[in-house]
Amino acid sequence: MRIAVLASDPSLYSNKRLMEAGAARGHEMTFIAIGNCYMDITAQKPEIHYRGGEILKPFDAVIPRVRPAITFYGMAVLRQFELQKAYCLNGPIAIGRAQDKLRTLQLLCSKNIEIPRTGFAHSPLDTKDMIKIVGGAPLVVKLLEGTQGRGVVLAETNKAAESVINAFKSLKADIMVQEFIAEAKGADLRCFVIGDKVVASMERRAAKGEFRANIHLGGTGHKVKITPQERKIAVASAKAVGLKVAGVDIIRSSTGPKVLEINSSPGLEGVEGTTGKDIAGLMIEHIEKHAMHKKKAKGKVPLEVVSDNP
Ligand SMILES: Nc1ncnc2c1ncn2[C@@H]1O[C@H](COP(=O)(O)OP(=O)(O)O)[C@@H](O)[C@H]1O
Ligand SMILES: [Mg+2]
Repeated sequence: MRIAVLASDPSLYSNKRLMEAGAARGHEMTFIAIGNCYMDITAQKPEIHYRGGEILKPFDAVIPRVRPAITFYGMAVLRQFELQKAYCLNGPIAIGRAQDKLRTLQLLCSKNIEIPRTGFAHSPLDTKDMIKIVGGAPLVVKLLEGTQGRGVVLAETNKAAESVINAFKSLKADIMVQEFIAEAKGADLRCFVIGDKVVASMERRAAKGEFRANIHLGGTGHKVKITPQERKIAVASAKAVGLKVAGVDIIRSSTGPKVLEINSSPGLEGVEGTTGKDIAGLMIEHIEKHAMHKKKAKGKVPLEVVSDNP
């Protein structure tokens, strides 16, 4: 098959691994830099041009690895690949949902999946009441579009919470406020979902003096055995957002597992390093199974382009 890795930096571990894994399985792999694409969106013949003038030959499948900074453009390019009937290992609509933490949590709620108590408000006039809703300090304030732990702040007192929330608001940042799960002691679970399976999981432990378990903030990955309930929650969460590949972050609270967020381009380095599994190979395998199947039903515009239903 002709498979594209649609990303920004070919030297990143995850991108390199996907290119290698596809080639090892006999596919024609091409790295496509999102920023180098431009499009002709004329009816009948949607084209993607590449810097220098080349018109890209349609791909059988595309693996998007879209950085938040380039999401808007990345999703437009991905939609163009979809219009050319490429199988997308995560479609643009699902990626858009996952990028917005609030929208993700609302989708999870619609499927009765447990999350930490969370509040969201527009006006600073509602700050005090929102703090009350989530049970008061200590609490966590999060930027809706933050990643890698940046934009997640712990406020230890109500006064501090109020100042942080109002400061973010005055910068016009969209934030949500969440109950702090202290008993997790800086650990969470990263469950790597492909299709309807958790193919690997690890526990991430925050660096000393830190409550955020993100690997980018010095967190470390450890082997872990997750429960059947956690497995079920991770798969249901990915499905609620419509993602085929997802990194579902779950925190273990005293009242059971709760989903923190869902990543549409989960990193491979930490999880492959911790578990020794060939996750990139499993992603290619998923494409082999599903893209071929989709090819048989040719002719139709993919549902993702026209519908927002998960
Ligand atoms: N409500 C919470 N209670 C305790 N720890 C939390 C809570 N929310 C987030 N964290 C910690 O902060 C980390 C980053 O939060 P997350 O919502 O995943 O944002 P990001 O997208 O920046 O990774 C989590 O992995 C977890 O370790
Ligand atoms: Mg996270």
